[in-house]
Parts: sequence; C-alpha cells; structure tokens
Amino acid sequence: MMNGRDGMTRILFYLDGFNNDPWKQSLLDIDPAIDVRSYPDWGTPDDGPAYAFVWKPKAGLLKQYTNIKAIFSIGAGVDHLLSDPYLPKHIPIIRMGDESLKEGMAEYMVMSVLMHHRKMPHILNLQRKQTWQHIIAKPANQVSVGIMGYGTLGKEIAKKLAPFGYKLNTWSKTPKPAKPNITHYSGESGLKHFLENTNIITSVLPSTPETTNLINAETLSWMPKGAAIINAGRGTLININNLVDAIDNGHISGATLDVFPEEPLDADHPLWKHDKIIITPHIAAITRMDSAAEYVIRNIKAIENNQEPENKLDIERGY
Ligand code: NAP
Ligand code: GLV
Repeated sequence: MMNGRDGMTRILFYLDGFNNDPWKQSLLDIDPAIDVRSYPDWGTPDDGPAYAFVWKPKAGLLKQYTNIKAIFSIGAGVDHLLSDPYLPKHIPIIRMGDESLKEGMAEYMVMSVLMHHRKMPHILNLQRKQTWQHIIAKPANQVSVGIMGYGTLGKEIAKKLAPFGYKLNTWSKTPKPAKPNITHYSGESGLKHFLENTNIITSVLPSTPETTNLINAETLSWMPKGAAIINAGRGTLININNLVDAIDNGHISGATLDVFPEEPLDADHPLWKHDKIIITPHIAAITRMDSAAEYVIRNIKAIENNQEPENKLDIERGY
C-alpha cells in the first residue's frame, strides 16, 4: 500500500495494558512495509497521513493528531471513542467487524442460551449441594430465543443458533426483510411484543442514549415468567437492581452478564455471589489480532481507493 507523503502506510496503534508487539507483528505479517507506531511513539502530526487503530485512547489524544485520516476501533463498540469530547467526528470512524468477533460472540451466545435452556445454573447449584435431581428442559422447538441487536453480531448469532431448532425472534431499530424461521420486531413499538414472546433474551445492543436502561422493571415485567436474559452488548442496557429484584421474586429465572455499567465489576459487588447469575469478565468476543489486522488493512485499501469502508460509524445514530 502507498499512502503517506513518504509513500508509507502509517498506523498509530493504542492499546493500553497489553503487549503491543504481537499486534504490530500481525499488521507487519500482512504488509511488512507498513509503518506501525505504538503509543506513545506516534511521532508528530507533520510526519504525514496516518490511520489510528485504537482502544480506549485518552480523551483528546486523537484530536492532536491532525494527520489521522480514519480511526479504526479495536472493538465493535465505539462508546470508548464517543465518550471523548474532542473526538474528531469529521473523519471516518470504523467499528471492528472481523470474523473473530462474529465467531466469538456467536459461540458465547450458543453456550449461554443452551446453559439457560438446559437449566445449568440450577443444576450446578444442585451439584454444590450434592443433590441428584432430574431437571427436565422443554424441547428446543418450544423455546423462543430473542436477539436484541440484529446487526453484524446479531445475524451471526441467529445463524449459529438456527440448527438447534429454537424459535428465533430478533429486534432492531429499523425493520428487516423477512427471513424463514425468524420473527422480526423493530423499534420502540415492537419491543413489547418481542419481549412478551421471548423466553431467552440475548443482547448485543450498542450503548446509546436509547438503549440505556432499556431493560428495567417495566420491560422485565413484559417478559414471560421464567425468562432468562443474556447480555453481552453493553452494561448500560440493564438496570441491575431491577434485574436482581425480578430474579429474586421469581419472575426472571436467571441471567448471564458479560458487560456491566462499571468495569471491572467491583470485587465486593453482590452480583458475584448471586446463584442465578453467571458472570463473565467482558470476554464474549475478543478481537483476534490476525483477523483484525487483515480487516484494518483491507479497509485502509478501500479508503485509499475511495471506496466505503465496512462498518462505518454513523455519528447521528451513535453506532
Ligand atoms: P451493529 O452491526 O451496529 O448492530 C447493532 C444492532 O443494534 C443493529 O441491528 C441496530 O439496529 C440495533 N440497535 C441499535 N440501537 C437500537 C435501538 N435503539 N433499538 C433497537 N435496536 C437498536 O453492531 P455489532 O457489530 O453487531 O455490535 C453490537 C455491540 O456488541 C457493540 O456495539 C458492542 O457494544 C457489543 N460487543 C460486545 C462484545 C463483548 O465481548 N461483550 C464484543 C463485541 C461487541 P438497526 O439494524 O436497525 O440499525
Ligand atoms: C467489545 O466489547 C467490543 O466492543 O468489541
């Protein structure tokens, strides 16, 4: 690829708390001519055009580098960028959408849906009490699984869940074309019907003002008795106190939570010890270096060829 004044493609990489060397190497394995710079060795804005490839950069950092032509998020979520009041919004911001994220999220949801369908949290509690008790689950074709957020990840989840024979419901902001064996709901008006008709709710919704606190006492009450909820979108979705109340009063059977309003979840937080809640530390889908490097380089090429990159952030929508 030829890009900067000096003919080099320059990538400014930022990932705090992790060894950056293997990430750099993944990019260089694909194109050894790329000038990959790991923060704080980003040089100066006068060094020529560059692409940022970042996760949770310090607020104001991206604005200082006026040579950045586009920003690639290391993750699919861009809340870590939108929280920067100085974010340069006039340049393309591209969300991660590589194969590893899709695969990882679909695996996580298949695992978690099966756990709740087959009542594994309850069975594990019985094991701890050394109690042999038959726990019978309904056949999959009598269980409806709902996917909140039917974008890049939601579609992959639907694909991987389909062979199990569940009834599949999906919910998104805008209507979607009909698909065999999927009932689609959309918008605020579709939410109640979606929740009323779903036994196991999975969420991969982004964090936006509209999705914040969407799962609360009222919306939980719309779900059928015994429903379970799995959240791997963002922690802002759920009012945790309302969820715990709904579980404790028996309306909701349990939850699997990968994301939280404050991360990491405080070591003293009572959620850790709740026997109907499974907690995972934001690991549902981890961006893999090799496929992410391939994705970024492919999309830099698209930008260089005046083509639209994949998964471009729509600033107005916020995702
Ligand atoms: P995406 O392709 O942009 O899909 C987002 C989906 O959410 C779209 O279907 C969109 O509806 C829907 N949506 C957004 N706002 C909505 C609203 N107010 N009401 C109803 N539906 C709404 O995003 P993605 O790549 O699938 O990623 C989704 C999120 O997953 C990320 O933002 C991130 O927060 C989370 N994530 C978590 C992990 C993890 O490890 N836990 C890993 C990766 C990603 P439309 O289709 O109508 O636009
Ligand atoms: C992870 O949370 C991501 O946004 O990719």
